[in-house]
Amino acid sequence: MPRWIAPAARDFLCLLWDILGLQVLQRMFSEPFYDPARSYQDNFEHGPFGLFAEPSRIRQTGAPQHTFLGQPVYAPFGVPAGPLLNGAYVKAALDMGFDIPVYKTVRTHRYACHPWPNVLAVKVEGDLGTGRTLVASETYSEPLSITNSFGVPSYDPEFWQPDMADAVTYAGPGQVVVGSYQGTKSESGSVAAYIQDFVTGARLLKQTGVKIVEVNLSCPNEGTAALLCFDVPRAREIVEAIKGELGEVPLVTKIAYFEDDERLTQFLREVGSVVDGISAINTVSAKIVDEHGHQALPGEGRLSSGVCGSAIQWAGLEMTGRLARLREELGLSYEIVGVGGVGDAAAFDRYRRAGADVVMSATSAMWNPRLAQEIKEQAHEL
Ligand SMILES: Cc1cc2nc3c(=O)[nH]c(=O)nc-3n(C[C@H](O)[C@H](O)[C@H](O)COP(=O)(O)O)c2cc1C
Repeated sequence: MPRWIAPAARDFLCLLWDILGLQVLQRMFSEPFYDPARSYQDNFEHGPFGLFAEPSRIRQTGAPQHTFLGQPVYAPFGVPAGPLLNGAYVKAALDMGFDIPVYKTVRTHRYACHPWPNVLAVKVEGDLGTGRTLVASETYSEPLSITNSFGVPSYDPEFWQPDMADAVTYAGPGQVVVGSYQGTKSESGSVAAYIQDFVTGARLLKQTGVKIVEVNLSCPNEGTAALLCFDVPRAREIVEAIKGELGEVPLVTKIAYFEDDERLTQFLREVGSVVDGISAINTVSAKIVDEHGHQALPGEGRLSSGVCGSAIQWAGLEMTGRLARLREELGLSYEIVGVGGVGDAAAFDRYRRAGADVVMSATSAMWNPRLAQEIKEQAHEL
């Protein structure tokens, strides 16, 4: 929805569209709460935008019927790590009925963001497999897929600790805020220092009073090009060290799509037996070019970038199904957070039927701030 339309007129138009059953149109025209046309810094300081800028707090009554890692929740639905940049975004998400918002991944110290642009639309024919080249644009339309490239920036803990603590206490009954973080490679290249950074991060998060911690293991591994979650012995060492620091606070680990079932089984034997929850998936990598075939995102190492949204739903659903099957086969008890391409109640239902305890949406939620309400009204698998 363009910003020049006054809020009252906008609400009237949304109501009209709802009545006419044209929710698709409404979604296409919703102003995203993160504005890709602005820098990360600008979004951080002046966002969220659109309906998230003046959210009306949704009233929820009665006893919450679900739990997530021991916390009561009205709906097992939320926003995964990423689009909720800081406490202002998390509070808006809570107001709009996203009962499990994840505060964007932080680090133990300040870390710079990749240059703008950080979000671009991509057109994908069908399901996105690995190794594809996609053309980027600034035209966001259904079915919505984007690439996001931030490099996991972070403010110092002096900023994010009080900000996260404030967002945690803002959650109403039947809501819970999750804090996400990751370790940072040390300049010396020392693996011990890398692991210690995960432990320090766990301590800093615990100090905020956050009730659930998520560690991003779909991040670079020290000393190799592969993702940390694919290095099973090191991932195990890290989650054990984190658990030692967190004590009773539940730990979720965020992972990427595993092509290799054998490696996923190994990962779950080693890591799935230590953590309390597994969130899958993160983005799927592709080469991103402009209409002339040139690298679309400026800077070294940015030809390949993570794709999310509608085109990766198949991969998130498939991983959810495998995580549920292997949990059973291996006699494990982790809770499953299904992520990837969830844009409506039907997709939420698909994830729940595949075995997700909780479902989350990043890309679609950015362009449809009413998604949690729609799911609460329309989903069959609540
Ligand atoms: C703008 C944006 C920023 C993201 N940043 C992070 C992040 O900091 N940490 C993380 O673990 N995942 C991050 N993600 C990945 C999402 O958590 C999610 O795994 C992915 O987008 C797939 O979900 P979707 O298809 O609903 O977007 C980000 C996604 C988006 C769209």
